[in-house]
Amino acid sequence: MDKPVTIFTLLGVQLDRGRGANRWSKWRPTIALGQQDDLLVERLILLYDPRFEGFMHSVRRDFSRVSPRTLVQPVAVPMDDPWDFEEVYGTLLGVSGDLELDDEEQLLVHITTGTHVAQICLFLLTEAGFLPGKLVQTSPPGRRGPGGDRGSVAGSYSIIDLDLARYDRLATRFEQDRQEATGFLKAGIETRNAGFNRLIDRIEKVAGSTRAPLLLMGPTGAGKTALAHRIAELKRQRKQVNGRLVSVNCATLRGDGAMSALFGHVRGAFTGAASDRPGLLREADGGVLFLDEIGELGLDEQAMLLRAIEEKSFLPVGADRPVHSDFQLISGTNRDLRQAAADGRFRADLLARIDLWTFRLPGLADRREDLEPNLDYELEQQSRLHNRRVRLNREARTRFLRFATSAEAVWAGNFRDLNAAVTRMTALSDSGRIGTDVVDEELDRLRDAWRVQVRDEVDEVLGELAAEIDPFDRVQLAEVIRTCRRSATLSEAGRELFAVSRTRKKSSNDADRLRKYLARYGLTFADVDGGGTGLAGR
Ligand SMILES: Nc1ncnc2c1ncn2[C@@H]1O[C@H](COP(=O)(O)OP(=O)(O)O)[C@@H](O)[C@H]1O
Ligand SMILES: [Mg+2]
Repeated sequence: MDKPVTIFTLLGVQLDRGRGANRWSKWRPTIALGQQDDLLVERLILLYDPRFEGFMHSVRRDFSRVSPRTLVQPVAVPMDDPWDFEEVYGTLLGVSGDLELDDEEQLLVHITTGTHVAQICLFLLTEAGFLPGKLVQTSPPGRRGPGGDRGSVAGSYSIIDLDLARYDRLATRFEQDRQEATGFLKAGIETRNAGFNRLIDRIEKVAGSTRAPLLLMGPTGAGKTALAHRIAELKRQRKQVNGRLVSVNCATLRGDGAMSALFGHVRGAFTGAASDRPGLLREADGGVLFLDEIGELGLDEQAMLLRAIEEKSFLPVGADRPVHSDFQLISGTNRDLRQAAADGRFRADLLARIDLWTFRLPGLADRREDLEPNLDYELEQQSRLHNRRVRLNREARTRFLRFATSAEAVWAGNFRDLNAAVTRMTALSDSGRIGTDVVDEELDRLRDAWRVQVRDEVDEVLGELAAEIDPFDRVQLAEVIRTCRRSATLSEAGRELFAVSRTRKKSSNDADRLRKYLARYGLTFADVDGGGTGLAGR
């Protein structure tokens, strides 16, 4: 302690007692503060109950004997009931407001004496900054502390810094927990993609600290559903939710049944409503509700959902009284909800509500460096499933990965495609060792599947006119459509498609180039953007 130290302490009616000469061989916490070799106490603010004034004076005298340089300032604090939280807190708050400290003074708040209530109040006042210092505790001899001496009656003292980050062991533990959490969110797959790692870090932070809605976006098979389940599980482990996870794919909620499935109904609400039904929102009370493919929800359901999120209550079908439900909402979508909102297919106010924390999961094709760890993960899964080791022999592995990481591999169904590929290869290799012949066969199958996929995109947009296009142009057009679909604007798509040539030109109008290209097929950006609302053929 280099600065002058001022200690704020309560007279310890029990602990500071001592009679006759024997008192010098007894550990008395307040006195011990004056007996620490490396703690020079300039000022001791000694709070006492006026009923113990005589006792206070004897402690004061003894303190001056062990530490003659200290200025002891008794402060009388009358308290009717030192176990009454409100009274004690109020009294101590008042005293701390009257404290005068100069800049050089360092305040230590002694929490070893006083009732437990008083100790808790001192802690709270210090943590809140009303007592602008650090906590100090004294311990009896025999317990070695940083400033202590095992043998002496002075015992030891230690300063408790409330900045938890400074405690190395705690910090290490926090970091470990955090890493376990992110590892868990990644399903234990070591990912090499920096962007994906950042995304998971952020999800871990956000999911750990908020109950606000989360929105997971990304193409089909990118892992939205799996991630939502892991987020819910993490929240449950951390005791942030205690209810269950209720999960539903909104694409399956169609027509009249949708309202009642989500919000429940009362008996007799409609023909066939033979009994009450709680509905999914009610079942999620206290837990997590995962609405997958939320973009598929009908407009009426969207309106009800918005109200349910905002007011934490809603009206079941046929009910005259609202029911309450408080849940953490996670939504998933592979649609561009902003575009859907612009087209009037999704409520803008609901979007604003669920779009507070949005996370975009990249497709597998954008995480090519992760193909190898994910291949190993899938092989492990298969091994576990079949109770025997499944692996690719060396040449087969090289061949598979070369293709998987090439531009030729579209990974249109993302993890679903990879999972299916490994499942098929395993099934075709009875020894559990996958060879090159099986890999070659699988690669043909994948190429085929994705070729159909390409044809589908062009078909979606052009309909029957698609048949009039050369295969050569078709490949190009399909790529253009895909790029437009994942871009927010024509210019953004243009920049990506002409990424190389635009750097060579002084002024580049990529948007114009792309517009002209699309016009050759009678298309505009609006025709190819947002889920394939076709111009021709529809
Ligand atoms: N991070 C991941 N790594 C490997 N496989 C995954 C991962 N996330 C999901 N999967 C698997 O991929 C498949 C599709 O995942 P899913 O979560 O259903 O995707 P989405 O909901 O985005 O369509 C599932 O079989 C799932 O087990
Ligand atoms: Mg899903």
